[in-house]
Amino acid sequence: MIPLKKPALLPALATALLLAVTVASCPARAQSAADEGQKLAFDRNKGNCLTCHEIKGGSQAGNIGPALAGIKSKYPNRAELVAIVADETKRNPLTVMPPFGRNHILTDKEIDAVVDFLQTL
Ligand code: HEC
Repeated sequence: MIPLKKPALLPALATALLLAVTVASCPARAQSAADEGQKLAFDRNKGNCLTCHEIKGGSQAGNIGPALAGIKSKYPNRAELVAIVADETKRNPLTVMPPFGRNHILTDKEIDAVVDFLQTL
Protein backbone atom coordinates (compact mmCIF):
# COMPACT_ATOMS: atom_id res chain seq x y z
CA MET A 1 0.00 0.00 0.00
CA ILE A 2 1.30 3.41 -0.86
CA PRO A 3 1.23 5.54 2.28
CA LEU A 4 -0.96 8.51 1.62
CA LYS A 5 0.81 11.68 2.48
CA LYS A 6 -1.49 14.07 4.25
CA PRO A 7 -1.37 17.26 2.28
CA ALA A 8 -0.62 19.82 4.94
CA LEU A 9 -1.58 22.57 2.57
CA LEU A 10 -5.20 21.49 2.36
CA PRO A 11 -6.33 22.46 5.87
CA ALA A 12 -4.50 25.75 5.46
CA LEU A 13 -6.26 26.35 2.17
CA ALA A 14 -9.59 25.40 3.68
CA THR A 15 -9.03 27.83 6.53
CA ALA A 16 -8.06 30.57 4.12
CA LEU A 17 -11.12 29.90 2.01
CA LEU A 18 -13.38 29.92 5.05
CA LEU A 19 -11.89 33.22 6.16
CA ALA A 20 -12.34 34.69 2.70
CA VAL A 21 -15.97 33.59 2.60
CA THR A 22 -16.59 34.97 6.09
CA VAL A 23 -15.04 38.30 5.21
CA ALA A 24 -16.88 38.45 1.89
CA SER A 25 -20.24 37.79 3.53
CA CYS A 26 -19.82 40.64 6.02
CA PRO A 27 -20.96 43.40 3.66
CA ALA A 28 -23.85 41.14 2.66
CA ARG A 29 -24.90 40.85 6.28
CA ALA A 30 -24.48 44.58 6.75
CA GLN A 31 -26.62 45.18 3.67
CA SER A 32 -29.86 46.67 4.74
CA ALA A 33 -32.48 44.16 5.85
CA ALA A 34 -35.00 46.40 4.12
CA ASP A 35 -33.57 45.39 0.73
CA GLU A 36 -34.00 41.76 1.67
CA GLY A 37 -37.53 42.54 2.83
CA GLN A 38 -38.34 44.20 -0.48
CA LYS A 39 -37.15 41.12 -2.35
CA LEU A 40 -39.31 38.89 -0.16
CA ALA A 41 -42.30 41.19 -0.54
CA PHE A 42 -42.00 41.28 -4.35
CA ASP A 43 -41.10 37.58 -4.76
CA ARG A 44 -44.16 35.85 -6.23
CA ASN A 45 -43.21 32.67 -4.37
CA LYS A 46 -42.70 34.39 -1.03
CA GLY A 47 -44.57 37.46 0.19
CA ASN A 48 -46.27 38.02 -3.13
CA CYS A 49 -47.58 41.27 -1.65
CA LEU A 50 -47.91 42.87 -5.10
CA THR A 51 -50.79 40.57 -5.94
CA CYS A 52 -52.94 42.68 -3.65
CA HIS A 53 -50.97 45.83 -2.84
CA GLU A 54 -49.52 48.63 -4.88
CA ILE A 55 -46.01 49.21 -3.53
CA LYS A 56 -43.45 51.78 -4.62
CA GLY A 57 -40.89 50.07 -6.87
CA GLY A 58 -43.15 47.13 -7.69
CA SER A 59 -44.88 46.38 -10.96
CA GLN A 60 -48.15 44.74 -12.00
CA ALA A 61 -49.69 45.34 -8.62
CA GLY A 62 -53.22 44.35 -7.76
CA ASN A 63 -55.65 46.45 -5.73
CA ILE A 64 -57.37 43.90 -3.51
CA GLY A 65 -55.64 45.54 -0.53
CA PRO A 66 -54.86 49.21 0.04
CA ALA A 67 -51.74 50.71 -1.56
CA LEU A 68 -48.90 50.39 0.92
CA ALA A 69 -47.72 53.96 1.30
CA GLY A 70 -47.09 56.11 4.35
CA ILE A 71 -46.87 52.91 6.36
CA LYS A 72 -44.25 54.14 8.79
CA SER A 73 -46.39 57.08 9.87
CA LYS A 74 -49.61 55.08 9.85
CA TYR A 75 -48.06 52.33 11.98
CA PRO A 76 -45.27 53.86 14.06
CA ASN A 77 -45.44 50.80 16.29
CA ARG A 78 -43.31 48.11 14.67
CA ALA A 79 -45.03 45.32 16.61
CA GLU A 80 -48.32 46.24 14.98
CA LEU A 81 -46.82 45.77 11.52
CA VAL A 82 -45.29 42.46 12.51
CA ALA A 83 -48.74 41.39 13.73
CA ILE A 84 -50.43 42.45 10.47
CA VAL A 85 -47.97 40.48 8.33
CA ALA A 86 -47.85 37.49 10.68
CA ASP A 87 -51.61 37.10 10.99
CA GLU A 88 -54.00 39.83 9.83
CA THR A 89 -56.95 37.57 10.68
CA LYS A 90 -56.39 38.58 14.33
CA ARG A 91 -57.33 42.15 13.45
CA ASN A 92 -59.83 41.23 10.78
CA PRO A 93 -61.15 37.66 10.79
CA LEU A 94 -62.64 38.20 7.32
CA THR A 95 -59.48 39.48 5.64
CA VAL A 96 -58.26 37.86 2.44
CA MET A 97 -54.66 38.68 3.39
CA PRO A 98 -52.80 35.43 4.05
CA PRO A 99 -51.49 34.92 7.61
CA PHE A 100 -47.84 34.77 6.55
CA GLY A 101 -46.56 33.81 10.00
CA ARG A 102 -49.29 31.48 11.15
CA ASN A 103 -49.25 29.61 7.85
CA HIS A 104 -45.43 29.54 7.74
CA ILE A 105 -45.32 31.24 4.38
CA LEU A 106 -42.60 33.47 5.83
CA THR A 107 -40.30 32.75 8.78
CA ASP A 108 -40.11 35.17 11.72
CA LYS A 109 -36.82 36.41 10.30
CA GLU A 110 -38.36 36.99 6.88
CA ILE A 111 -41.31 38.83 8.43
CA ASP A 112 -38.82 41.01 10.29
CA ALA A 113 -37.11 41.89 7.01
CA VAL A 114 -40.44 42.59 5.30
CA VAL A 115 -41.39 44.91 8.18
CA ASP A 116 -38.03 46.68 7.84
CA PHE A 117 -39.01 47.27 4.22
CA LEU A 118 -42.56 48.38 5.12
CA GLN A 119 -41.05 50.99 7.43
CA THR A 120 -39.34 52.58 4.43
CA LEU A 121 -42.75 53.14 2.79
C1 HEC B 1 -54.58 38.19 -1.07
C2 HEC B 1 -54.35 39.62 -0.91
C3 HEC B 1 -53.25 40.11 -0.03
C4 HEC B 1 -51.92 39.77 -0.01
C5 HEC B 1 -51.24 38.72 -0.84
C6 HEC B 1 -51.28 40.62 0.95
N1 HEC B 1 -52.19 41.46 1.51
FE1 HEC B 1 -51.80 42.89 2.88
N2 HEC B 1 -53.79 43.38 2.96
C7 HEC B 1 -54.77 42.82 2.16
C8 HEC B 1 -56.05 43.45 2.47
C9 HEC B 1 -57.37 43.13 1.80
C10 HEC B 1 -55.79 44.42 3.46
C11 HEC B 1 -56.80 45.37 4.11
C12 HEC B 1 -56.97 45.09 5.58
C13 HEC B 1 -57.70 43.80 5.91
O1 HEC B 1 -58.23 43.10 5.01
O2 HEC B 1 -57.73 43.45 7.10
C14 HEC B 1 -54.34 44.35 3.74
C15 HEC B 1 -53.70 45.16 4.65
C16 HEC B 1 -52.33 45.24 4.78
C17 HEC B 1 -51.64 46.21 5.60
C18 HEC B 1 -52.29 47.35 6.38
C19 HEC B 1 -52.36 48.52 5.40
C20 HEC B 1 -52.99 49.77 5.93
O3 HEC B 1 -52.87 50.80 5.25
O4 HEC B 1 -53.60 49.74 7.01
C21 HEC B 1 -50.31 45.96 5.48
C22 HEC B 1 -49.18 46.72 6.14
C23 HEC B 1 -50.18 44.83 4.60
N3 HEC B 1 -51.44 44.42 4.19
C24 HEC B 1 -48.98 44.28 4.23
C25 HEC B 1 -48.86 43.19 3.38
C26 HEC B 1 -47.59 42.59 3.07
C27 HEC B 1 -46.25 43.07 3.58
C28 HEC B 1 -47.85 41.55 2.24
C29 HEC B 1 -46.89 40.58 1.66
C30 HEC B 1 -46.00 39.92 2.59
C31 HEC B 1 -49.29 41.52 2.03
N4 HEC B 1 -49.86 42.52 2.75
C32 HEC B 1 -49.94 40.60 1.23
C33 HEC B 1 -54.60 41.82 1.22
C34 HEC B 1 -53.41 41.18 0.94
